[in-house]
This record gives sequence, structure tokens and C-alpha cells, in this order.
Amino acid sequence: MGDERMVIEWDAARASNRENWEDRVPLHEKAYGIEELDEPDQLSSVVRTDLEALEPFLPGGVVAGLDVCHLQCHIGTDTASLARAGARVTGVDFSAAALASAAGLAKRLGLDATWVETDVLDARAAVDGDFDLVYTSIGTINWLPDLDRWAAQVAGLLRPGGTLYIRDGHPVLYALDEHADGLRLRYPYFTTGQAQVWDEESTYAGEGTVAHARTYQWAHPLSDIINSLLGADLRILRVDEGTTLPWKFSPRMVEVPGGFAWPESERDLVPCTYTIVARKP
Ligand SMILES: C[S@@+](CC[C@H](N)C(=O)[O-])C[C@H]1O[C@@H](n2cnc3c(N)ncnc32)[C@H](O)[C@@H]1O
Repeated sequence: MGDERMVIEWDAARASNRENWEDRVPLHEKAYGIEELDEPDQLSSVVRTDLEALEPFLPGGVVAGLDVCHLQCHIGTDTASLARAGARVTGVDFSAAALASAAGLAKRLGLDATWVETDVLDARAAVDGDFDLVYTSIGTINWLPDLDRWAAQVAGLLRPGGTLYIRDGHPVLYALDEHADGLRLRYPYFTTGQAQVWDEESTYAGEGTVAHARTYQWAHPLSDIINSLLGADLRILRVDEGTTLPWKFSPRMVEVPGGFAWPESERDLVPCTYTIVARKP
């Protein structure tokens, strides 16, 4: 799994990935702990972490009052949390089922949001208006083959002075064997131009299986991520690397405040996440 690599047309890879993500929606609706958001003022733990890192870089110091475009918003737990923090939110995803779920959640919580169904690589053309903040977090660009095209969408969606925030699994983490009994490299760190082929019936959260198990993902080294943003004329304000993840990447990971991490003796050996804040001049 993930060991097979192949060159595949984006249309075919995207169609396969979309079917897989549609199937995950009902499983994640049960497993994401969405009911936590029924508590007034409660934000998702991902957004709590992200706002702490992001808000010092926002011109007014808070996300409240900003126009925010949330790319790859999935079932909307983080989008709803940003709305609850006072942002005017637009959630973007290519999964109709995810967006229907997200819209239902926002409605139930009494939060306003706009939802746009599109390939994120076509987001600029599909989404109306421009934004103070483009936000995307945890499980995002590994689904995309072309970072330059992604960064161009981000730059196009931002107003001058607008901010990009991304936090995601570190490419070094994604190169590790999740099933090994120690830290062992297994998958490519560098871009090969080929997709990694995954056939997995289960998903990272909850029980149950998906009917469409085949997905395609792409490795992106940190240098490519940074260079894609620089290539879109964004100014990088901050790059951080972290040791805690919001999902259990490997059965050997242990629960820690804020998520999961490698056992303590290994924790400073490899990064688990990276965070980048960038600005459109
Ligand atoms: C792991 S979720 C990330 C969201 C968030 N961290 C969460 O867990 O709710 C990945 C999302 O990316 C979406 N996605 C994957 N490829 C996409 C593409 N090419 N265009 C738009 N959305 C895409 C999927 O439908 C899914 O909702």
C-alpha cells in the first residue's frame, strides 16, 4: 500500500479520489466528535491550534470580521469553527456529500457560510470574491499533483495584504512506514512526478469501510511547498515544524495534549507537521 507508484492523468486520479472522499463522509460524520460543537463557543481542536499560531500574523490580530476561504473544508467542522470565531467563511471542497454535511452542520449551529463544490486546483475560477485569509489544514496538498497550480489558486483568491495559513502533515512524516516497529523510511520524500497508489478500505477516523478504496496521493518536499508559494509571489512570514498531530498516523503513536505524537524517546527525531504563514503583498 502506497509502495506502488504510477503516472496517472489528473482527471482520472481526481475522479477516483473524489469517490473515496464521498464514501468517507458518513464514517467521519460519526467519528469526528461533531457533537462537541453543540457546546456554545466551542471550536474544533484543529482551529483552536491554528488560530493560536495564525492570529498574531493577522493585521487586526483576530480572525473575526475577516473574509476567509477554507480550501478542502471536508465536513465543515473547521469551517464552522472559523465562522463561530467571527469570520465570514466560504468552504471549498470537491465532494458534494462533504459539502452537504458541512452545510447541514452550519445550519444546525446557526452559522452562516457559503459552500463551493470544485476541484481546489480550479478554485479561483469557481469561487466568487476575494479573501483576507485562505486557510487549509491537515490532509490537504498531499491530494494534489501540482503545487504551482495550487499556489496560483491561493494567490488569486487573496486580496493584496491577505494571508495564507497552512498546517499539515510533514513530508518527512509521510516518508515514514506507519506500520514499522521503529522510525523507518519507506515512501519517497521527493516528488517523483508519480502518484502513490493506495488501496485502503478503512479511513483515519472511525469504523466502517469505503466502497471506493483506491486513492492517489503525491509526495511534496518542504522545499517544493515553499517554492510554490514564492513562485506565486507570496511573502513567507513564518515556517514552523511540530511534533504533535491531530490524527494517529501510526499505531505506535501515543496520545498527548492536542493529539498524537511519537513515543517520548523519539519525539525530537522527526517532525510531524509543518506550518506556513504567507502574505500576498
Ligand atoms: C482530510 S480532509 C481535510 C479537511 C480537514 N482537515 C478535516 O479533516 O476535516 C481532505 C479533504 O480534501 C478534499 N479534497 C481532496 N482532493 C480535493 C481536490 N482536488 N479538490 C477539492 N477538494 C479535495 C476531500 O474531499 C476532503 O474533504
